[in-house]
Amino acid sequence: MLVAATSVVGAVGVGFALVPFIASMNPSARARAAGAPVEADISKLEPGAMLRVKWRGKPVWVVHRTEKMVASLAELEGELADPGSNASQQPEYTRNNERSIKPQYFVAVGICTHLGCAPTYRPEVAPDDLGPNWKGGFFCPCHGSRFDLAGRVYRGVPAPTNLVIPPHTYISETTILVGEDGGAA
Ligand code: FES
Repeated sequence: MLVAATSVVGAVGVGFALVPFIASMNPSARARAAGAPVEADISKLEPGAMLRVKWRGKPVWVVHRTEKMVASLAELEGELADPGSNASQQPEYTRNNERSIKPQYFVAVGICTHLGCAPTYRPEVAPDDLGPNWKGGFFCPCHGSRFDLAGRVYRGVPAPTNLVIPPHTYISETTILVGEDGGAA
């Protein structure tokens, strides 16, 4: 009985000693984990498909655009609010026609720039519900905002700006690091 009581006191004592230590370490560890870059493995991402990763609590998309999808981007300029990506919605190295480092891979934060809903990926051309001029892109079901396959917003929809592109870099042919670009932004 005495041995058991001593063990309990000992365990409690150790517990109290550890609490301040853990309390002081956990927030920074948590913060580091929350802000840490994440890797996206694109080795199995088929042309036309999209994968999602989570970075800083936000959904980040990687779309493998086909050649046809990339070509369609040039046909839309007259219909877009900011086709040249003049607003600061992307790192400098993605301020180009495809808004990407490599034309075939598009990386974006999957949050509508209107009120923060999650747009849906709609790669099909001219589906019934989006009309004959739809060339593939992202559609926000909340209030009808439309974005092309480079995340550029159409004119006349509620969303004011293009989708955000996070800092990212290629650490191999098949791995994109989201949230880190070695200071290139
Ligand atoms: S939140 Fe997307 S259109 Fe309003």
